[in-house]
Amino acid sequence: MTKKQLEESVAYLKNKGFDAPEIGIVLGTGLGQLVNEIENPIEAHYNHIPYFPLATVEFHTGKLIFGTIAGKKVVVMQGRFHLYEGYDFLDITYPIRVMHQLGIQKLFVSNAAGAINLNFKKGDIMLIEDHINLQGGSPLAFKNVAEFGDRFVDMAEPYDLDMRNKIEKIAKEEGISLKKGVYASVVGPQLETKAEYRMLKILGADAVGMSTVPEVIVANHLRLPIIALSVLTDECDPDNLQPVNIQEIIEIAGNTEPKMIQLFKELIKTI
Ligand code: HPA
Repeated sequence: MTKKQLEESVAYLKNKGFDAPEIGIVLGTGLGQLVNEIENPIEAHYNHIPYFPLATVEFHTGKLIFGTIAGKKVVVMQGRFHLYEGYDFLDITYPIRVMHQLGIQKLFVSNAAGAINLNFKKGDIMLIEDHINLQGGSPLAFKNVAEFGDRFVDMAEPYDLDMRNKIEKIAKEEGISLKKGVYASVVGPQLETKAEYRMLKILGADAVGMSTVPEVIVANHLRLPIIALSVLTDECDPDNLQPVNIQEIIEIAGNTEPKMIQLFKELIKTI
């Protein structure tokens, strides 16, 4: 990755009308309905944006969408890149750097995750308060990282406290139950074994998924305040483990998404 590549990606998007978005939003698996809330949308397919990671077949629908939600200019990533698709850490976080360069001042992230904390149930939403990186690498481990910011990025409070407080208040007002906890990221794409679920619990994870942490690390590198929500799509009980059905995960994510959209929309209004 070079600064020149980033500039070319950004120039392409600005030329398409991506004009100074204030908020970037990354939509997770099964969580695409938020795009229906975007007013006056302009779309850019990932495959057409210079230096964006080359999309796999599965990814042909991936696009960046610029527009407004609740009167605020946003840029939304419909579909993200995952390590399990064969991308590397630099690929999957490149769009975060592009959105930052476009001008976003806040980043919202969503994902589908499994519940390790068995007080949490399918269909719950969890506000990520902290994370455990179990993906075996870092999006900041590259030679010229110093050109883009610090190498040794502080991670004492990676999820913005002010937005967390705001969204908790919103959830109360809207009567939406919002859990809070620690998200552990794994590479996937295989699901976890019973022994791995036991390990994750001992480590202190409340939820597990295959994304988000690299994007959060890069947002911290860029000093970009971030908020992240997990939609819990399955219960990871090692003593009573049901085979995971990906179709069901996507369905539960979709059924829960309206609550998540409500939270994000109300949060946008406060920014
Ligand atoms: N692990 C277990 N369950 C899940 C995951 C995961 O990574 N993502 C969504 N549900």
